[in-house]
Amino acid sequence: MSSTVLTSPSLLSDRSAAVVTATAGVVAAHAEQITARFYPRMFTEHPELLRVFNQGNQATGEQSRALAASVVAYAVQLIDPNAPSFHHVMERIAYKHISLGIRPEQYTIVGHHLLAAVGEVLGDAVTPEIADAWSEVYWLFATQLIAEEARLYQQAAIDPARPLRPYRVIRRIEETNDVISLIMEPDDGGDLPAISPGQYVSVFVDLPNGQRQPRQYTVSSTGLGNRLQLTVRRVHGVNGAPDGQVSTYLHDNTTIGDILDVSAPAGDFVIQPSNGPLLLASAGAGITTVLPIVEHIARTQPDRTVIIAHADRTAQDHALRDTVLHVGRQLDDFTAYTWYETVGPDDHRSRQGLMDLTDIPLPADIQVFTCGPLPFMRHIRSTLLARDVPASRIRYEVFGPDLWAAQATPQELAHT
Ligand SMILES: Cc1cc2nc3c(=O)[nH]c(=O)nc-3n(C[C@H](O)[C@H](O)[C@H](O)COP(=O)(O)OP(=O)(O)OC[C@H]3O[C@@H](n4cnc5c(N)ncnc54)[C@H](O)[C@@H]3O)c2cc1C
Ligand code: HEM
Repeated sequence: MSSTVLTSPSLLSDRSAAVVTATAGVVAAHAEQITARFYPRMFTEHPELLRVFNQGNQATGEQSRALAASVVAYAVQLIDPNAPSFHHVMERIAYKHISLGIRPEQYTIVGHHLLAAVGEVLGDAVTPEIADAWSEVYWLFATQLIAEEARLYQQAAIDPARPLRPYRVIRRIEETNDVISLIMEPDDGGDLPAISPGQYVSVFVDLPNGQRQPRQYTVSSTGLGNRLQLTVRRVHGVNGAPDGQVSTYLHDNTTIGDILDVSAPAGDFVIQPSNGPLLLASAGAGITTVLPIVEHIARTQPDRTVIIAHADRTAQDHALRDTVLHVGRQLDDFTAYTWYETVGPDDHRSRQGLMDLTDIPLPADIQVFTCGPLPFMRHIRSTLLARDVPASRIRYEVFGPDLWAAQATPQELAHT
């Protein structure tokens, strides 16, 4: 954290910059306590928001940590001219918000409860001057998000008051014991929206307990005409934690003819229009980002070099494997590697254990897209950095609140 007051022009007023610089450390040290207070107090006054916020992320505290980290990181980049670019974090949040239909007027509710939670946690230490400075930080952040979200809503022709469309399930595929694909068509007679490979949608379901809950699922195939495919891994509870609410519901209840409420596509985990070689490194459910990207390359740039590397528990757990290999064979230069925790006795091609990219031949100008659990992606990233792949060439997608970007070191974020 910087201890120097702003030296270059900033969005923050000079007065607030000095106060934020002096208090950023103490706010950062209490940030998770603050956001942990913020949510219950907001939900008590606005129970309707329980239907928009992922209650699994509330139970695990992940959303609370992501919000805390993002506000602290935003404040730091306001006061520290050397802080890493915040663009990636901002884009990620804005996309997540538009997939959930967040509206500008709701920023007043969040601001009110967040700033009240700061007062509750820090008590008398919060002088009116400090409260004003942090309110300025909040509203700068909010204004930038609102503007970006307005741009994204307009670009995708979404009315934020009606962010969802009904989709009818027309096919259900049992991919593995724990993974299904749902193929759906818009039920309103309209066309599928434009989807960039790697993007996700938010799906809202009405659970048997009366709760309504959203979750994000990557569009796992974009090669099906007017049909949208989602591929859902069943989440089992471990160490006494409950099974995943929405994935379990979708597995146990979804049948052909069902209607699901689905948002427009969102997310910036999309490939750039270049012809450079690509490495797609995935684990578990992260495979859902690989198929649409390989399909897209097969359709548009079949001479582009693509290397895929996937890790899973066993070959039987490896969803979409045959489809990815089938599409990959349409490319001129396609290589696939697999790692399984347990390799079957007749499988002589897969490697045993966790993914290790140390000795995989990689072209010098490789661009990497990685998707899987955070420890997996950290491991992939450090192996590639050690192999001199620049951080700017490594992109990642987290299947939950992003606890990485806002907490990462400047070096880690140098790619943004
Ligand atoms: C951008 C993005 C793309 C995604 N794409 C895909 C995809 O293509 N395919 C896919 O399968 N998934 C994908 N996901 C993940 C998906 O959105 C869901 O997070 C996943 O399906 C789990 O949701 P759930 O409702 O089943 O689990 P939840 O009910 O949300 O539970 C999540 C975890 O929290 C734990 N938990 C819940 N309550 C408690 C509690 N009280 N105490 C302790 N632990 C608790 C559960 O045990 C579980 O481990 C994506 C996520 C994102 C953000
Ligand atoms: C400046 C204000 C805000 C900030 C800094 C902020 C920040 C964040 C962050 C960091 C995430 C996690 C993104 C990710 O990595 O997936 C998020 C998600 C979310 N935000 Fe906001 N947000 C703000 C305002 C709002 C408002 C006004 C609402 C509407 C009530 C809202 C609703 C949500 C919801 C529902 C999610 C998804 C939660 C989940 O999946 O657990 N946010 N926001």
